[in-house]
Amino acid sequence: MADTAVIRPATEADRPALYEICLRTADNGSDASHLYSEPRLPGFIWAVPYQAVVPDFAFVLDAGAGPVGYVVAAPDTAAFADRLEREWWPDVRRLVGGLTPHTANDERVLALIRRPETKDPAMLADYPAHLHINLLPLFQSSGWGRRLVETELAALRAKGVPGLHLGVSAGNAKVIGFYEKLGFREIARPASIYMGMRL
Ligand SMILES: CC(C)(COP(=O)(O)OP(=O)(O)OC[C@H]1O[C@@H](n2cnc3c(N)ncnc32)[C@H](O)[C@@H]1OP(=O)(O)O)[C@@H](O)C(=O)NCCC(=O)NCCS
Repeated sequence: MADTAVIRPATEADRPALYEICLRTADNGSDASHLYSEPRLPGFIWAVPYQAVVPDFAFVLDAGAGPVGYVVAAPDTAAFADRLEREWWPDVRRLVGGLTPHTANDERVLALIRRPETKDPAMLADYPAHLHINLLPLFQSSGWGRRLVETELAALRAKGVPGLHLGVSAGNAKVIGFYEKLGFREIARPASIYMGMRL
């Protein structure tokens, strides 16, 4: 199954799978289903808006029956944040407006939807793009993560993007070795660990 999968551009039809994969990996790489009372909450932030707003930088790993992993990126993080304010957050804020938080994760994500995280402009000067990558467990450790990141790097380079960063939460530091293998280096550590790569 894993050896016949293909990487392809993500489409609007993939959104349910993007929400699902994001949820299944949102607890520092593990299943976070029990941590959210609305299953789309993590995907509202960390997966689906990329396919919606910058689809040229959203790719899925498809094993035949639909996506089993994805890599998504924003080529210009500051411009992406501006577009989300106009094109994404108004609808999402309406959707979650009546939601009562039942868990700490509900609260944290609802707060981020109300007031999205902002990035240090000094970091964005050198590393303006950012990415998120997640694979379902069955498809991890088979080289697909590397291939997905390389697909994303090629798309970003083709657009002349000079560098990109990504955030690793302190609880998921075990993945740092993966990013280092691919050429990322630590560039900042405010709360999350930020890693970057010049393109
Ligand atoms: C993190 C993740 C994307 C990595 O993808 P993957 O398919 O498992 O990794 P790959 O098999 O492509 O590994 C690529 C290389 O990194 C190495 N590697 C992978 N994980 C590593 C680790 N934790 N430490 C050191 N090296 C690692 C592999 O050995 C491989 O080396 P090689 O190419 O020289 O043989 C994937 O495991 C995943 O989705 N995990 C759960 C969600 C998650 O944590 N996402 C990241 C959020 S920041």
